[in-house]
Amino acid sequence: MEKQLNLLKVQCLESISKINNLHDLQELEVRYVGRKGELTMILRGVKDLSADQRPLIGQLGNQVKNELDAAFAARKLDLEKQDIAKKLHDPMFDVTAPGPEIGRGHIHPLSQVQQEVEEIFNSMGFAVMDGPEVESEYYNFEGLNIPGWHPARDMQDTFFIKGKEDKKHGRMVLRTHTSPVQVRTMEKFGAPLRVIVPGRTFRYEATDASHDTTFYQVEGLLIDKDISISHLKGVIKEFLTRLFKKEVSVRFRPGYFPFVEPGLEVDFSCLICGGKGCRVCKHTGWVEFLGAGMVHENVLKAGGIDPKEWQGWAFGFGLTRLAMMRHGIDDIRLLSGGDLRFINQF
Ligand code: DAH
Repeated sequence: MEKQLNLLKVQCLESISKINNLHDLQELEVRYVGRKGELTMILRGVKDLSADQRPLIGQLGNQVKNELDAAFAARKLDLEKQDIAKKLHDPMFDVTAPGPEIGRGHIHPLSQVQQEVEEIFNSMGFAVMDGPEVESEYYNFEGLNIPGWHPARDMQDTFFIKGKEDKKHGRMVLRTHTSPVQVRTMEKFGAPLRVIVPGRTFRYEATDASHDTTFYQVEGLLIDKDISISHLKGVIKEFLTRLFKKEVSVRFRPGYFPFVEPGLEVDFSCLICGGKGCRVCKHTGWVEFLGAGMVHENVLKAGGIDPKEWQGWAFGFGLTRLAMMRHGIDDIRLLSGGDLRFINQF
């Protein structure tokens, strides 16, 4: 075996010195020292040697392998240098030409809108919060005044997660909205509070152009003393006007959400037709935009805040929908589809 190894080394080194292009060199490397190369095949026999021979031959094998690896690397460097030298002497090779362009990514249209939303609310004194996407039933429902028997549970088709379950927190779910972070932030920071929570949410939906199982929302929560709906109206109007860089009107309608009392739905004047009526606003002049209301006292209590001393409002809107409206995107699935022909338009 010792002879075999030495012979292989001599042959291989000789072949390396004769090679004059990178492609052949690589083939040679695979043939000799590759995973199924000749050296490997010889070394497979080491295990059948006698106990006193084994370490000696093993050591020689490693030595040969190291020498050959070094010879291949050195030859490769040589050939690469030759290649460059050849190009530099080629009269058609322009050393001043720019190299191949390095592709740079850019921010996803959803993240772009999210950043703008965060900036506007930040400037109005709102902190940006985060919460878990895999949430407990407690924070997603009970803490928000939606007990298990409540029919409002049916408003949100939910993905339940197998496994972990406990008495207080129930099962684990993929959060159906960003609202669970309301109770989490109240527990953590108490009152007063001014936060927004942009984040990913999930529903068990059949997908079509306007429904997806994954989408983004932004939650807002303001808790302080002597807070009323008029503050909400001011904040939302200011936010939309800054976002769209146009004067936007808002209107409030009564709406039902278990975690607020009274509850509201907020629409804004259609920016496409200026309120005259078009396809986007379904010929009403108004676009449905968010759910909101005064935070229900049970929710304040769940967050450890005394409803006799503090009050506030909350809102939630679809960030995905906002991005779609902004860019005139007519199919929600495009946003998470990963198709670069679409994404690169933004
Ligand atoms: N969580 C609600 C949803 O996903 C939206 C919402 C409505 C959030 C009213 C709020 C609110 O904070 O006050 O449909």
